[in-house]
Amino acid sequence: MTLPSLILAIESSCDDTSASVLRNNEVLSNLVAGQKIHEQYGGVVPELASRAHQANILPVVHQAIKEANISINQLDAIAFTKGPGLLGSLLVGTSFAKGLAWSLNIPLIEVNHMQAHILAHFIKNENDAYPDFPFICLTVSGGHTQLVLVKSAIEFELIGQTIDDAVGEAYDKTAKLLGLPYPGGPLIDKYAQKGNPNAFGWPTPDVGKFEFSFSGIKTSVLYFLQKQVKLNPNFIQENLEDICASLQHHLVKILLTKLALAEKKYQTKNLAIAGGVSANSHLRTSLTILGEKLGAKTFIPKFEYCTDNAAMIGIAGRELFKSGSFSNLSSKPTARLAV
Ligand code: KG4
Ligand code: ZN
Repeated sequence: MTLPSLILAIESSCDDTSASVLRNNEVLSNLVAGQKIHEQYGGVVPELASRAHQANILPVVHQAIKEANISINQLDAIAFTKGPGLLGSLLVGTSFAKGLAWSLNIPLIEVNHMQAHILAHFIKNENDAYPDFPFICLTVSGGHTQLVLVKSAIEFELIGQTIDDAVGEAYDKTAKLLGLPYPGGPLIDKYAQKGNPNAFGWPTPDVGKFEFSFSGIKTSVLYFLQKQVKLNPNFIQENLEDICASLQHHLVKILLTKLALAEKKYQTKNLAIAGGVSANSHLRTSLTILGEKLGAKTFIPKFEYCTDNAAMIGIAGRELFKSGSFSNLSSKPTARLAV
């Protein structure tokens, strides 16, 4: 089969409804409708997320087609997120993609969300700079923290992952303890800019060489704050920047220490980060420094391709199309799916 020129991609795994149109590896449009409703609950409420996807999906797809300046009949294939994610949310995107592919009589491609975060590095960029295979990707999001050996665009080997919370959860849950709204990751990043990274010390989890653990750090932040607030009720307000800076410094150090260990073992000379937390400013600059130290090329996604977006589903769908991996109308979403 010839390569698809135009792919429509749909992403609905969590709380962002997104649609994108790609021509080859170039993004023509990438629309993301966020869901403000979850802010008041301090985290994503699955039932509300699926309802919001249901309301958003048609206008978002419509706008993506419009901004791409194409007609829907020109589409060659439709890619959608099969999982992992919230089942109710995934069902909305899956059903929509199936219905549209059926009505247009074009191929349907199911995409693994975690693989798509990684493959976002192959979206066309100004310098035409893409990782060489094999490379190591540190995928850091609200639900995952993984070190992945990427052998090709369709072969992924999990090197290690978190045994409890994801690093994005560590950001969001500690942000909540600090009284910051959801999602707290970007806010910790913001306050950290003005703080002292060595102001406070946090525990380093004792886990396997390529494993991560963040639940203990969250608990230690909780106990630390409870103790300090008893002594000074304004402790958080007075020290917010230093708490954020020292916590961020610690989390990034843990992530990159493990990435460096993986590189020592696999010697790929190509290191990438992906997922929502790869938008973090300290992680981005620290990865560049690590790459220089190890003599490795580093790959940092553009901001719009860090957090959940359909363009990454489109580029992953294109790779699957190339390898002839198609889905059909009996495809079902799945909440759990290994990388
Ligand atoms: O990949 P993503 O959009 O959704 C999941 O698949 O989970 O990642 C969302 C996560 C949230 O935990 C959010 O707080 C975090 O990415 N995040 C950040 C930053 N921007 C987003 N964490 C730290 N610093 C940031 N600048
Ligand atoms: Zn994600």
